[in-house]
Amino acid sequence: MTKKWWHDKTAYQIYPKSFLDTNGDGIGDLKGIISKLDYLKDLGVDILWLSPIYVSPFADQGYDIADYYNIDPRFGTMEDMEELIEKAKEREMYIVMDLVVNHCSDEHEWFKKACADPDGEYGNYFYIREKKDGKSPTNWRSYFGNSVWSDIPGTNKQYLHSFHKKQPDLNWENEAVREEVYKNINWWLDKGLGGFRIDAIINIKKALPLQDYEPDRADGLCSIQEMLSRANGVGEFLSEMRDRCFKPHDAFTVGEVFDEKPEELDSFIGENGYFSSKFDFNETIFGGSEKGWYDAKAITPEDYKHCCFAAQRHVGTTGFLSNIIENHDEPRGVSHYLPEGECSLEAKKMLGGLNFMLRGIPFIYQGQEIGMENTVFSSIDEVDDIATLDQYQTTLEAGYSPEEALNIVSRYSRDNARTPMQWDASANTGFTNGTPWLKVNPNYRDINVADQMNDEHSVFMFYKKLIQLRKHPRWKETIIYGTLEPVLEDEKNIMAYYRKGPETLLIIGNFQKDEQEVPLPRMPKEILINNYQEVSYDETRIHLKGWQFLVLEI
Ligand code: GLC
Repeated sequence: MTKKWWHDKTAYQIYPKSFLDTNGDGIGDLKGIISKLDYLKDLGVDILWLSPIYVSPFADQGYDIADYYNIDPRFGTMEDMEELIEKAKEREMYIVMDLVVNHCSDEHEWFKKACADPDGEYGNYFYIREKKDGKSPTNWRSYFGNSVWSDIPGTNKQYLHSFHKKQPDLNWENEAVREEVYKNINWWLDKGLGGFRIDAIINIKKALPLQDYEPDRADGLCSIQEMLSRANGVGEFLSEMRDRCFKPHDAFTVGEVFDEKPEELDSFIGENGYFSSKFDFNETIFGGSEKGWYDAKAITPEDYKHCCFAAQRHVGTTGFLSNIIENHDEPRGVSHYLPEGECSLEAKKMLGGLNFMLRGIPFIYQGQEIGMENTVFSSIDEVDDIATLDQYQTTLEAGYSPEEALNIVSRYSRDNARTPMQWDASANTGFTNGTPWLKVNPNYRDINVADQMNDEHSVFMFYKKLIQLRKHPRWKETIIYGTLEPVLEDEKNIMAYYRKGPETLLIIGNFQKDEQEVPLPRMPKEILINNYQEVSYDETRIHLKGWQFLVLEI
């Protein structure tokens, strides 16, 4: 395998709106990120992925872009962005932006022109169709609920939006659209960007001709995924984008890829793949239901283990997965994957360690490094996220009381991960001098960066150790390029695997609060990481405390 500059990196996702506010408007900004570069460097991360900071009306928190060439004034200016790229470079760090090109904003000039003249040049930038007898062109349901079709005022026409109605889908079949996208990507890469995280990319290819499918709920609509499963040929667009943009710049790219066909793996992330990497979402989508969050099945430690291993087995050494326990679309990993009431320091470290040592590129989401947890919503009015508001409605319609509905959506809400980064124990956790756009998690006095940086047993220090291990000359080759082999798979609530390269490592976690003893496949030579002070084992057995996590040289 040809070595690439990004193989040995550790990535960190910044949700700019909630990272650090330096001008008191309650919204994080680029100056805030610049001021924390040393903090991030000290943690050890190399690649910083920024969720969208382009000009946007924020119908979906910036994933609805009105101008791809400018920074939203709430985040700062282009000079700030250039400074960020520059200062990151000085520290040997790379900035990665979000590439949101399945759709733009309905406030983008392309869409305004399309509405003014749907049959003209810009009409063909989107999917615009005539209604028939007042009926929408197809019966697809959008990701955020309701039909994917909305009216173009003053006409009998509608436009397609896979997500919110303020996010019209771009027509990738139109070469002019693709040219615009490539021009923009290259413009940013020429500025010195390290690459892109690529949003909702499977959605760019629609199954044509557009048609109805079997409804899957009482609303008579069917999930848009049904159409996607029948869409073929996304690879033609993706290889064109790779060859025209990413390859000439040697950019790092990570795809938000759902629903790709198993046989396409090599084309996606193999040696000459469309992308450098793609996220493993096996764990995050586990238990999901077409009916909605109220019908989701909770994930157990055994499920978690099987999901991770299935993804690892599928990819093998074909390419590199990007491994996460959370992101801006998910609840906090420690609240989601650890059984309720079990968010101890040890358990948080175990979960982080098991995920971090998998084969692939580790992505840490802001606040994960201090073990941030889900927040508490005392009323639905405290929720900002459109997906959560839609799910709340769906839950009420399914017959749940408002209290029950709030409880259910609180568990899965994307806002859990979007509460402000917890810097210290001062008012509003040091995030802002003003009023934060989203309420701070009330636990910030107990969980914050300032405390953890001075505490050698903190979650922060543990992540730092994991990153140092990944960079250590002796273990690097094994951790980055070594194979992954599950072991002790039938031991309940034990998640263990070898990483085999020039060295052999055994990674083992006791995914429960009770102690347990399991066979030790081989006698350890050295303990590299331990989330407790001690561990007891002999030649054949190892005795693990509740939530104990170890990296052993074997
Ligand atoms: C991706 C983003 C999510 C956004 C959606 C639409 O899934 O991660 O936040 O809502 O795309 O752009």
